[in-house]
Amino acid sequence: MRVVSVVGARPQLVKLAPVAKAFAASDHEHLVVHTGQHYDPNLSDVFFQELGIPAPDRHLGVGSGSHAEQTAAALTGLEAFLQETRPDWVLVYGDTNSTLAAALAAVKLQLPLAHLEAGLRSFNRAMPEEHNRVLTDHAADLLLAPTELAMKHLAGEGLAERSVLVGDVMVDVCLGIRDDVLAGRIPTLTDVAGLDRDQPYVVATLHRPANTDDPARLDQILDALAALPVPVALLAHPRLVAAAQRHGLALARGSVSVGEPLAYAALVQAVLGSRAVVTDSGGLQKEAFLLGTPCTTVRTETEWVETLDDGWNALVPDPHLLDRKEWADLVLREPGAAPTSMPYGDGRAARRVVDVLASTASDTTA
Ligand code: UD1
Repeated sequence: MRVVSVVGARPQLVKLAPVAKAFAASDHEHLVVHTGQHYDPNLSDVFFQELGIPAPDRHLGVGSGSHAEQTAAALTGLEAFLQETRPDWVLVYGDTNSTLAAALAAVKLQLPLAHLEAGLRSFNRAMPEEHNRVLTDHAADLLLAPTELAMKHLAGEGLAERSVLVGDVMVDVCLGIRDDVLAGRIPTLTDVAGLDRDQPYVVATLHRPANTDDPARLDQILDALAALPVPVALLAHPRLVAAAQRHGLALARGSVSVGEPLAYAALVQAVLGSRAVVTDSGGLQKEAFLLGTPCTTVRTETEWVETLDDGWNALVPDPHLLDRKEWADLVLREPGAAPTSMPYGDGRAARRVVDVLASTASDTTA
């Protein structure tokens, strides 16, 4: 079996790592295309090096642009590569513009398409990711779902027959790195955004257009972070840095110290050592949950609703509307009991992905 994985943005590289490892341990051929949607070294190269992902077989160099420009450039580049390689499966990850482009490229060439992280829904149609994931699910021949709830969403949309529950590959990578950190197999991170890690601190990230693109809203959220009574390490995504510059807003203010996005093991260490996380990232909400750190999510909804159980995650769409003490108490709340269930699987999802692709490929060619 030949499988082409298509990735482009930082969270997809994290998900690719365990899948590439599972393929390397099999007899199957696995090729990787990087669209180049993310190109800064600390959003891309660092993950290949650190997580041991083989260099991509093709890099499309798509870069930044409008949704149409980015998606169209990836679609054109992918068509040529897929025509040359004619894989048994095109495997796409998550919900970015690279995901949608690869889904379109595959179905137009009538190549079997598998979607990893299928069935997630925010039900917020203002999010570009919601369109990307719904369209990809409905185009795909095989839907690899991370959770029971994702399976229910797919069944509700008439897609049950194409859906398989495999678990979440992010558990594979996150818990593996956590174990390496706890066993001292990873060089120790000393500071986060210039902060001393021996003192309590909060890890924060913001990158969703809904939070960064309106200057007044971004200013209010930054003020809320600035008012927290412990230092805040704001690991600034380039979209946030670009938006703040455009709006003439300072990111560093009050309690906030600014740092660059971290490589994966450093992020895991930063979260493990923190009092709390404040974010609008889907991946970081789940990493905080898996690492046992309370998370506050600056959004009206989450695709990862299981993280809300027992108060591990809390949705606060408008932090600036809360009284400052209420906001601080919420962010710095003591977590409840450790989660009793593992809604995201057992850390062996990637191996299951390879097995399901192989058995389904042989079914369709039999
Ligand atoms: C993309 C995904 C989002 C995912 C996020 C993870 C879409 C629609 N969005 O959002 O689902 O949560 O990745 O990070 O696909 N930039 C750089 N260097 C880079 C990449 C981006 O400077 O290497 C800047 C550019 O100004 C660019 C902006 O960040 O315009 C946004 O990048 P883009 O890839 O369009 O979207 P993200 O916000 O990263």
